[in-house]
Amino acid sequence: MIILAIETSCDDTCAAVLENDRVLGNVISSQINLYKKWGGVVPDIAKRAHQERIETVINRTLKQSKKTMEMIDVIAVTKGPGLAPALAVGVNWAKDLAIKYKKKIVAVNHIEGHILSNWVKNSFGLPKRLIDLPALALTVSGGHTKIIIMSNPSALRAAPLDRGATKGFFEYRVVGETLDDAGGEALDKAAKLLGLGYPGGPVIERIALKGNPLFLELPKPIADKKILDYSFSGLKTSFYYKIKEWPVEKINEHLADLAASFQKAVFDTLIRKFDLAIEKYQPKSLLASGGVMANLDLRKRLRKLAREKKLPIYMPVKKWLNTDNAAMIGVAGYYKALDNNFADPETLDRDPRWEI
Ligand code: KG4
Ligand code: ZN
Repeated sequence: MIILAIETSCDDTCAAVLENDRVLGNVISSQINLYKKWGGVVPDIAKRAHQERIETVINRTLKQSKKTMEMIDVIAVTKGPGLAPALAVGVNWAKDLAIKYKKKIVAVNHIEGHILSNWVKNSFGLPKRLIDLPALALTVSGGHTKIIIMSNPSALRAAPLDRGATKGFFEYRVVGETLDDAGGEALDKAAKLLGLGYPGGPVIERIALKGNPLFLELPKPIADKKILDYSFSGLKTSFYYKIKEWPVEKINEHLADLAASFQKAVFDTLIRKFDLAIEKYQPKSLLASGGVMANLDLRKRLRKLAREKKLPIYMPVKKWLNTDNAAMIGVAGYYKALDNNFADPETLDRDPRWEI
């Protein structure tokens, strides 16, 4: 099966061509430079940038893959969640192509894509993995933070569904999620507060390397051991009030310490709730994905946790597979197509709040 995948849910215009779950071509056109002065993504600017770039990105991907539109079997596109104006560009483009070239179309959930980024293969370095299910997946990015049980349908049927699940080739059950800001969003906001620019995660990671993570004490959000949900907005507010009265010189002098302390506080809660979920649900393997998993310190801490729990952990080995890309949407599309889970190209619409 040859799949053309399109992803425009946030600030990257992405396309990929896959043969089943193997990537043949992958192009990401990042809009980061457009948002440096805003400190975050501006939906209307994102929409215009996607519109300007999408055709070129798709054509470059097809060329890289040595494929033409005629050779494509299925078009996979991110339907949600994400920014409505940004999603609409990808969805409309995918629908037009599907109608023009008479192709089947699958609508993919962006979060399912992040989880399945651990399934993406290629012929130059991405490993073939056999991942035992049920797995517990932690996915953290600028838009979401979720702990999800991923299983095969027959296994899940025995368990009660407390928060709803998506039926299909794989099944997903959200068991913990953020009640306010996402993990990446918290890092982005702290970076903005410190005047470090956008996106905050990578800058904070770099600066934190030289800082003392114990410099500033920050609260432990939702310390209750029975609750698996996250909350990051209190952490951000507490950080803000702690440094609010500081003169600029003092902030600059301790920039690395502040970055390290804030990063540690975010990662502490990510790990703490994931640990609780592992104890509660006893999965066979662990998965981590989403933009924040590009962070080497977080990866190290998650590997340590997995060793303690004697469980295998899988994270995308390439940086570009952690952040937004269309290869992960293509793999999710591949499994949905195997499941005959096609959408109608005439009526398909973006869904900015689509739950996995
Ligand atoms: O998955 P992603 O590319 O887009 C969304 O779906 O949101 O994630 C972007 C988020 C941003 O908040 C960014 O600051 C964060 O991932 N991020 C990082 C790193 N690289 C990106 N956070 C921590 N360390 C990094 N190296
Ligand atoms: Zn994402």
